[in-house]
Amino acid sequence: MRVALGADHAGVHLKDAVRSLLESRGIEVQDFGTADETSVDYPDYAARVGRAVAGGEADRGILACGTGLGMAIAANKIDGVRAAPVVDLESAHLSREHNDANVLALGARVTSADTALKIVATFLDTPFAGGRHQRRLDKIAALEHDRHA
Ligand code: RB5
Repeated sequence: MRVALGADHAGVHLKDAVRSLLESRGIEVQDFGTADETSVDYPDYAARVGRAVAGGEADRGILACGTGLGMAIAANKIDGVRAAPVVDLESAHLSREHNDANVLALGARVTSADTALKIVATFLDTPFAGGRHQRRLDKIAALEHDRHA
């Protein structure tokens, strides 16, 4: 599995902790920054990670900002991205099982690092259930079509 990472200044330390977890699991990481706490704009990082996932250069993306919300809102503007802002383990599980989320958005100001790393592990390890859920994802993809019609 190849995972693209991105964060703004609020999420940079959590992003680095996620990177360590991924590397300890032998996962290939593409780190799109940011590198320190200098203030930056989260849509720039959501775009880089979202494009890597939508373009097939990464299998999953993980984003971190203060709440996870801005990152998810921005990443979901990219066709093919299904970004889930997640703060608990049950939602992490269901984001994969039901929504086939391909991008996880974490909030460093609202989620402890310990919980966030458990969310990451759940996000990576939970398969998509398919079946009726695939039909719903197809309807989401059709909305992207409508937008470009
Ligand atoms: C940055 O201050 C903050 O707005 C950002 O990290 C994020 O929480 C946005 O959703």
